[in-house]
Amino acid sequence: MPRPKILLTRRWPSAVETVLSERFDATFNLEDLPMSTDAIADALRAYDAVLPTVSDKLPASVFAGGAIRTRILGNFGVGYNHIDIAAAKAQGIAVTNTPGVLTDCTADIAMLLLLSVARRGGEGERQIRAGEWKGWCPTHMIGTKVSGKTVGIIGFGRIGKAFAQRCHFGFGMDVVFYNRSTVDPAEAARYGARQLSTVEDVLTAADFVSLHCPGGAENRHLMNTARFSAMKPGAYLINTARGDVVDEAALIAALERGVIRGAGLDVYEAEPHVPDRLRALENVVLLPHLGSATEETRNAMGMKVVDNITDFFDGREPPDRVA
Ligand code: DGY
Repeated sequence: MPRPKILLTRRWPSAVETVLSERFDATFNLEDLPMSTDAIADALRAYDAVLPTVSDKLPASVFAGGAIRTRILGNFGVGYNHIDIAAAKAQGIAVTNTPGVLTDCTADIAMLLLLSVARRGGEGERQIRAGEWKGWCPTHMIGTKVSGKTVGIIGFGRIGKAFAQRCHFGFGMDVVFYNRSTVDPAEAARYGARQLSTVEDVLTAADFVSLHCPGGAENRHLMNTARFSAMKPGAYLINTARGDVVDEAALIAALERGVIRGAGLDVYEAEPHVPDRLRALENVVLLPHLGSATEETRNAMGMKVVDNITDFFDGREPPDRVA
């Protein structure tokens, strides 16, 4: 039996590429350049499995037109809003993701952003690197205290819970959250958190609002002009979820006008494009989508894909099938 032909759209951790090349007839993206939508559409006609990442785009158009050979998309990432799942399903293509293994590191990055923006870590670093620090004085670069404040979490899945745990047990914060479905209060209490009924309830209570819901149509622009206005004066927004959850133009306006005090962002609406007006603001901390970027987590994500496609081609149900 010939080994399944698979294509990786980007370079992956070398340990994972080694395992994939032992098990499959694997093609690697040696130059590590992003693939165009047309190139991905061609790959769907040439490979048994295509292994995309969260920065690839697989709209309905890549699945249209027939002659598709691909039977599984083994996505490197937990989010899959970059794949038109209905269109993939209509072609009988299975889709898998990589949940669980990036929970801690993404929650850690959310904490890093919250602390950095509240305590002006980015600004301080820039000041020292520019040789502009004039020394300690009582009024220098005054930020906002974090310990004991209220954090509001939108989306209480794995990462939302891990973030709540850090905030409550690490920083003595009061944690409230909004979640589409009801969470057992005893379960919420394990993370030091309590559920509120609406997004607005969370926004009006929180000194820091952190987004942990999926991207895609259902949450597109969940944070918009009206919701920024509903936030407490002086509050901060943290986004490690997906760029499209926030109306970026409305966020920039809210930051420029002082409607909210600051933002810590790891994700953007049109990555890797970050608007000039956002980059010009001092009251934002901007990271380049680093949530899962640790050696341990990226290896674990890759090995999840290995497990998913191995099970699939061996005739078993892949553990992380989402379609
Ligand atoms: C994911 O897996 O969805 C993350 O955004 C990657 O860091």
